[in-house]
Amino acid sequence: MDVTDKILKFIHFETRCAAIYRHLSVLFSDAKELFGTISKEEDGHAAILERALSCFKAGDLSLEFFAFLSPQIDEALDLVSKIESRLTAKDLTLPEALELMLEMEKSVAEKYLIGYLIDMSFVKGGLAISHEFAKMVCEGGCHVTQIKEFMRNGATEERGR
Ligand SMILES: [Fe+2]
Repeated sequence: MDVTDKILKFIHFETRCAAIYRHLSVLFSDAKELFGTISKEEDGHAAILERALSCFKAGDLSLEFFAFLSPQIDEALDLVSKIESRLTAKDLTLPEALELMLEMEKSVAEKYLIGYLIDMSFVKGGLAISHEFAKMVCEGGCHVTQIKEFMRNGATEERGR
């Protein structure tokens, strides 16, 4: 797979995650803040990937930088498709939606970026972008924690609108 096509798939992945969370923030007023906040972070991840792609196209970031992108992106996109179709089910409850998001975050999330936790400063243009990629990895881990916390601290039985 061409590296540009691969990065575009990752951008697509993040954009769809953001859209899912945005959809849930409208569906469930009781978790509007949680879903809204995560949705904005996922949009931010897509933006970071867009920037990395622009740098790569401009020749300011070397191909090596992308060696860590997981080859499992197609599986991740398949899971997102499955989750999207489950979200359209009628009578989805907030606990069910939270379980689905946990599944999404745990199985795919930012694990595909894990290689970027190592120092990428040896790669041309890698220093600045690797910090942003590391931020993405951390935020992905945070989403799991935030969702679990929300479930523990009284997620209501609200049904989607
Ligand atoms: Fe993300």
